[in-house]
Amino acid sequence: MLKGKDIINTAQFSLQELDLIMNTAVSFEKRVKDGEVIKNMEGQVVAALFFEPSTRTRLSFETAANRLGARVITVASAASSSAAKGESLADSIRTVDGYVDVIVMRHPMKGSAQIAADNAVHPFINAGDGSGQHPTQALLDIYTIRKEKGTLSGHTVTFVGDLKYGRTVHSLGYLMALYGNKMIFVSPKALRMPEEITADLRSRGAEIEETDDLKKALSVSDIVYVTRIQKERFENPVEYEKLKGLYIINRALIDQAKKGITILHPLPRVDEISTDVDDYEGAAYFRQAHNGLYVRMALLALVTGRV
Ligand code: NCD
Repeated sequence: MLKGKDIINTAQFSLQELDLIMNTAVSFEKRVKDGEVIKNMEGQVVAALFFEPSTRTRLSFETAANRLGARVITVASAASSSAAKGESLADSIRTVDGYVDVIVMRHPMKGSAQIAADNAVHPFINAGDGSGQHPTQALLDIYTIRKEKGTLSGHTVTFVGDLKYGRTVHSLGYLMALYGNKMIFVSPKALRMPEEITADLRSRGAEIEETDDLKKALSVSDIVYVTRIQKERFENPVEYEKLKGLYIINRALIDQAKKGITILHPLPRVDEISTDVDDYEGAAYFRQAHNGLYVRMALLALVTGRV
């Protein structure tokens, strides 16, 4: 179903495809935990092109490829590739595409994923395109929600933080809508979810509420998805300074939230979740990061037809 396909954004997925990705990830998780030496992608090469900083996404993709028996070539910063010499993205991709079997890329420009995919014959996976989308993060988010909550629908989910530039919330919004969850968007006015996304989600039947009252939102939420204020996306540093630290999740706030609330964060966090929350049992963000490995194994194996 996904063989040869590009992964560009979460609006592209059907429920059947999502089921397939989730089930494949479950199976890889079991095989890894059983200590199996997995060879599904033996003989293949994966390109990991990261033109923007990354810890989890790059290292979990590289680990996923290694655990599948593939080999990896990496660009870990724009400065180390010919992008620094002024080469166009299209030309770089056309070149790498001739070396490998699948390309994973993160790039600072919104829309860059589609351009790259259009210039590659092999499957292409978007690992974050500027303030656009981050579909593989949203897939590991729903994998985590399924594990933590037992079901993917019927929840009230609060998204808080930088909803304007945050590509993770753009991607997850579409999946939460598809599964019939209610969403509450909490942000400073300047960082609201882009109107085009809210309108698109509503046209797909999503129930959405927008507010700046975090405490009230948490009192009715089953899940809160916290995001970092994205310093690097601001043109004006003064504006960033004004907005950072506006919404901080600490233990006192969680103690007043709906009982059993699950806390997710794509990480890295700066100070939007206090460390006193870390030992709360519903604090799932590090488990969430670990789940990324299995979901990315599933994606690599599915798009290359090596499941
Ligand atoms: C996110 C990203 O890069 O968009 N991180 C990640 O991939 N886990 C979120 C962020 O950088 O704030």
